[in-house]
Amino acid sequence: MELQGKTAIITGAASGFGREFAVLCAAEGMNLVLADLDVAGLAATKDLVAATGVGILTVPTNVAKPEQVEALAEQTWERFGGGHLLFNNAGVAAAGPVWSATLEDWKWVLDVNLMGVVHGIRSFVPRMIAQGGPAHVVNTASVAGLVSPPGMSVYCVSKHAVVTLSECLYHDLRLAGTKIGVSVLCPGFVKTGIAESHRNRPAELRATNPMAPVYGEKIRQVIEASTITARDIAEQTIAAVIEDRFYIVTHPESDCGVSARLTGILQRDAPKMPQIA
Ligand SMILES: NC(=O)c1ccc[n+]([C@@H]2O[C@H](COP(=O)([O-])OP(=O)(O)OC[C@H]3O[C@@H](n4cnc5c(N)ncnc54)[C@H](O)[C@@H]3O)[C@@H](O)[C@H]2O)c1
Repeated sequence: MELQGKTAIITGAASGFGREFAVLCAAEGMNLVLADLDVAGLAATKDLVAATGVGILTVPTNVAKPEQVEALAEQTWERFGGGHLLFNNAGVAAAGPVWSATLEDWKWVLDVNLMGVVHGIRSFVPRMIAQGGPAHVVNTASVAGLVSPPGMSVYCVSKHAVVTLSECLYHDLRLAGTKIGVSVLCPGFVKTGIAESHRNRPAELRATNPMAPVYGEKIRQVIEASTITARDIAEQTIAAVIEDRFYIVTHPESDCGVSARLTGILQRDAPKMPQIA
């Protein structure tokens, strides 16, 4: 899809991948709609791209709230008259084994990581279809949506769901004859704010998996060791949008885990423990 002069909507725009999507979309000459819970972070992203002169709208948004995502779409159409590239990117992570995950862990992570994407699709895709012409949706999943590493079950469930949701969306949009492309972003570990996700956790959902500190620390160490940057991920993502590619698997090291999982299913084997980068 040609990006110049079009409008990008980015959730999770206050940090990490979302901020880098904003920088690259602005460099492509796109208007920006920046959405996040973190109002100070949104302002910092806006400052970072202001000099490009593109139109920028910041909208404090909780993607777990369907009415807020609907308001985001309304404001996008009001300000820019349309929306063309939607990044359903806001996300959070929780660690620990399955049996000790709290109901609050499940509600928090699924409401943001899965339902946030569902709300984005429900509010934006019908408007994109009505507007006609090319558009594109990028859903941020993870390698944890392609394999099932231990110690991060709630997160994995949310991200596997985003992968299949994206595949279903792709088929439905093709069958309906639209010009709307879809990509699903599946990165391995990258140093962003993700290991500090609890900063965005609502007070009423604070009860965490009692084993989260131990498991979370292991994950934090792998994240700290990552050499691929959020900018690298954003560059690969924008290239995939321009070329209309569906799967964006950014860490080649994760391929063998994906392949082993699929082979294991076809051979009716028990799952192998995946290494994820
Ligand atoms: N960093 C990694 O290693 C990694 C790997 C694979 C996938 N991901 C995914 O990438 C996406 C972006 O994460 P990141 O790594 O840039 O982390 P990040 O913490 O730097 O950015 C996530 C952003 O989402 C926002 N957010 C959280 N809850 C929200 C809510 N309810 N409503 C609106 N905004 C909310 C945060 O304020 C933050 O600005 C997430 O979906 C994450 O699961 C990250």
